[in-house]
Amino acid sequence: MNIIDHLEWRYATKAFDPNKTVSKENIETLKRALQLTPTSLGLQTFHFHVIEDNSIKDQLLPYSFNQQQVTQASHLFVISYYPEVTEKHVEDILNIKINLESVPRETLTQFKDFVMGYIQRMDKESMAIWSAKQTYIAMGVLLTACAELNIDACPMEGFDANGYNQILNLTEKGLQASLVVPVGYRSEDDKYQHAKKVRRSLNELSTEL
Ligand SMILES: Cc1cc2nc3c(=O)[nH]c(=O)nc-3n(C[C@H](O)[C@H](O)[C@H](O)COP(=O)(O)O)c2cc1C
Repeated sequence: MNIIDHLEWRYATKAFDPNKTVSKENIETLKRALQLTPTSLGLQTFHFHVIEDNSIKDQLLPYSFNQQQVTQASHLFVISYYPEVTEKHVEDILNIKINLESVPRETLTQFKDFVMGYIQRMDKESMAIWSAKQTYIAMGVLLTACAELNIDACPMEGFDANGYNQILNLTEKGLQASLVVPVGYRSEDDKYQHAKKVRRSLNELSTEL
């Protein structure tokens, strides 16, 4: 299968087979794909939970507008973000870079000043929006990785973030829930798997210059 076949194969899965589990190896691949997500300035101001524990899924269901994917799927990815991006986020990344490349800290001073300037120019609200946007890139990478591995997934914004924040103790860690992605294997009964892809034409959607 080529990439287009994979993207045509995938769909927002509404009913999962609760008896099928994604292997540990595939979960590790999905986690690595999320780790490789490109982010603005490379700051990775997002976090993700991978939930296999059914009792936690059950607690999250009422905060998911009762979308059954949340409890039926093998694993639930919850992607959250730091609405407040601080100097510590920048320092953490600089330290990783310094260790990886064995470069003296001084060579990164200009880069740090640039990044800090970029962040400090944002007001509180724009910063939170900017940080939240990064989670959508992560979700895109996750969905594509799932498709490549023939793992079904459902991108979800339809949930109560406050409920998720509370159950997963996100607020106390400075995080906000942004997106939920149940992953697993489609139920034979999910009629949506037979639906045609509803998409605007490439003429409307794109312009070649
Ligand atoms: C950001 C985002 C949020 C979505 N939220 C939900 C959701 O809460 N529940 C759901 O069943 N589908 C949700 N969807 C699925 C979309 O409705 C679906 O991806 C779209 O209709 C295209 O269909 P396809 O993914 O099956 O190709 C969401 C998709 C995206 C990208």
